[in-house]
Order: sequence, then C-alpha cells, then structure tokens
Amino acid sequence: MLYNNIIKPILFSFEPETAHELGAKSLHFLGKLTPICTLLRKFLLSETCPVEVLGLKFPNCVGQAAGLDKDGIFPSASEAIGFGFIEVGTVTPLPQEGNNKPRLFRFPSHLALVNRMGFNNHGVDALKKRVSVSFPKNQRQVPLGINLGKGKTTPLELALEDYCAGFDATAHLADYITINISSPNTPDLRKLQSGEFLDPLLSGIKDHRTSWAKLHNMPSPPCLLKISPDESFKSIETIISKAVDHQFDGIIACNTSIKQTNQFSKNITLPKGGISGKPLENKANEVIKFVSRLTNSKLPIIGSGGIYDYDSAQRKLEAGACLLQIYTSFIFNGPLWPSRLAKRIPLAKEW
Ligand SMILES: Cc1cc2nc3c(=O)[nH]c(=O)nc-3n(C[C@H](O)[C@H](O)[C@H](O)COP(=O)(O)O)c2cc1C
Repeated sequence: MLYNNIIKPILFSFEPETAHELGAKSLHFLGKLTPICTLLRKFLLSETCPVEVLGLKFPNCVGQAAGLDKDGIFPSASEAIGFGFIEVGTVTPLPQEGNNKPRLFRFPSHLALVNRMGFNNHGVDALKKRVSVSFPKNQRQVPLGINLGKGKTTPLELALEDYCAGFDATAHLADYITINISSPNTPDLRKLQSGEFLDPLLSGIKDHRTSWAKLHNMPSPPCLLKISPDESFKSIETIISKAVDHQFDGIIACNTSIKQTNQFSKNITLPKGGISGKPLENKANEVIKFVSRLTNSKLPIIGSGGIYDYDSAQRKLEAGACLLQIYTSFIFNGPLWPSRLAKRIPLAKEW
C-alpha cells in the first residue's frame, strides 16, 4: 500500500537509475540501523520453508538477484527485509564506469526492464572491504553469493585471470561464488559460453579452486555458473556438460535476454540491452526445465528471470529450480515483496 501509493510514484517520477540510487541509499541507511534491522528481520525473514543445498542453509528460497546491489552497499538491509539469500555483484577486478547513460529503462505495463548497464561497479577490492565490515560471515543469517565478471577491456583469452582474481579476493567472504559469463552488455562476454573459450575457462576455474583450497587448507566455496537464455538448447547442453565435468556446483538460469519476445507488440522498439521481468518468464522456465532434465534434477538450479507474482514463482520451482532470485519484480512490487513471496511459497522439493 505505502509503496504502491506513495513511494513508488515518487521513485518512478525519477529516471530509473536515479531512482535506483535513491533506493540503494535508503537501504544502505537502513542497514546501518542495527536494532531496526534486527526487529525487521524478526517479522520479515521467513524461515518456515528452509532449503538446504550447496552445503548451505537458506532460511527461504527467495534470493536477491545479481545487479541489484552490485557493490554490496546494502546486504544487511536486504537480509532484514526478508531475502533468504543475497547475491552481490557483478564485480570486476578493477572499478569501471559501465556504459553511457541512459542505460536502464522501465516498461511498467509489461512488468519489464531493459538494461545495458555494462558492469558498472567499484571493483572487487572495494566490495571486499565494504562487505567484510558491514556483512561479515559470522554475523549474517542468510548466505551471501558474490557474482564475478571480467573487465570490459580484458580480452577473452585473459578472462580466466579476471575470474581468478575475483575469486581470490572474495572466496573467504562468500558463501558461494557465481561465474557470470552471460551478461549481454559487456562486449563478447557471452562468447565465453561457447567454442574455444568455454572448456579452458571452466577447467581453469576448477584448477584454481583446487589450488586455492590446498593453499588455504579449506574447501572452496561452491561455484555456480550463470547462463544466458539466448543460447540454443544444443549450446546449453554443451555448457552444462562442461560445467559438470569441471565440478561446478550449480547453475543460475538465467540472465537477461536480448531477444524481444512476442509479449512486446511489434510496434514497440525496445532500447538496446537485456530484457528482464515478466516477458522473460517462459524462456527462462524452458531453460530451467531443459537443464533439470539433462542433469536428472541432480544439479541445483537457481531460477532467475520473470518471477512477477506468486504463481510465476511456483512455476519456476515446478520447472526444476530449488532456489529463486528476483530483480525486476522487486522494483515494481517494493521492499516488502521478498518477504511476502517467501511466506507464500511452500517447499517445492527436498534436496
Ligand atoms: C538493471 C539490471 C542489472 C543487472 N545486473 C546484473 C549483473 O551485474 N550481473 C548479473 O549476473 N545479472 C544482472 N542482472 C540480471 C539479474 O540478476 C536477473 O538474472 C535478471 O534480471 C532476471 O531476473 P528478473 O526477471 O527477476 O529481473 C541485472 C538485471 C537488471 C534488470
């Protein structure tokens, strides 16, 4: 009510990115009010349907998708408002500005966003410093994922070095790591999903995790691979088989899509960028079903893309996801949405 009638009209009167910054600042401020966060968490963090997967305990299956808090500005607030897990990033080894503005567009009647942010972020060291102080491992109630990308100017041949640098900086801090090779807004990034690049990259990451574990005398955090909805099923089959060969622990399906779906009338010319929200649902669910079938439901899948109400969340679990992530519906439904959603979702499946 408060969000829909007052806060949202105010926020939506600003440019989408300005509104995002205002929201992020408010959540950052909330995160500093520890007693209020503790109180909110008591009421909003649903623990009635916990999930155990990836060797981690999730109080509920509704997670914050990557990109919403790229720099780890407000994880304590995200926990307080009821997210069952939080993924920060995408973060790159060095800070970068991202693409020119405007780069984020709202389509309220379609419950969709289009973005071409291009991994704007403060760099992995800044994220590490911030999160190790504001959301340290021993003080969080929900798992924290850190999503890693490659820098815009890093050639594809050297992408492995960027992922390894990101891994080294964050592996102590993260409950899980996501290797993001599927964002459409970093030139050629998605080429890492195929051909000559895929196998060396995934095998290099496996070797790096093994060495890290030996060096630190502790297990590597679980590693997930985030994939694109725009790949053919043949290509997804290859990606999944390589991910399994190279001991990835799970898949996040999916990132945004650059293919306009028929939910948008032909008369609308969409800005260049990745589509998220409701129009992505069917495509993302097809990918989840496919991956689930391929792996006999043995590889955990985090379902992301087009959850806009309770039923669509349920459909993702039925498609084969064991955890969910939301971004776009958070923008349209407001800060109480993760908690409301988590309280309504029954446990879909035992892991
Ligand atoms: C503005 C915006 C920025 C995003 N940035 C990232 C990112 O940095 N890394 C990433 O892996 N996904 C990113 N995503 C994709 C989301 O994590 C999510 O996978 C996608 O939006 C589909 O979920 P949704 O339909 O609930 O929004 C971004 C999405 C949006 C809308």
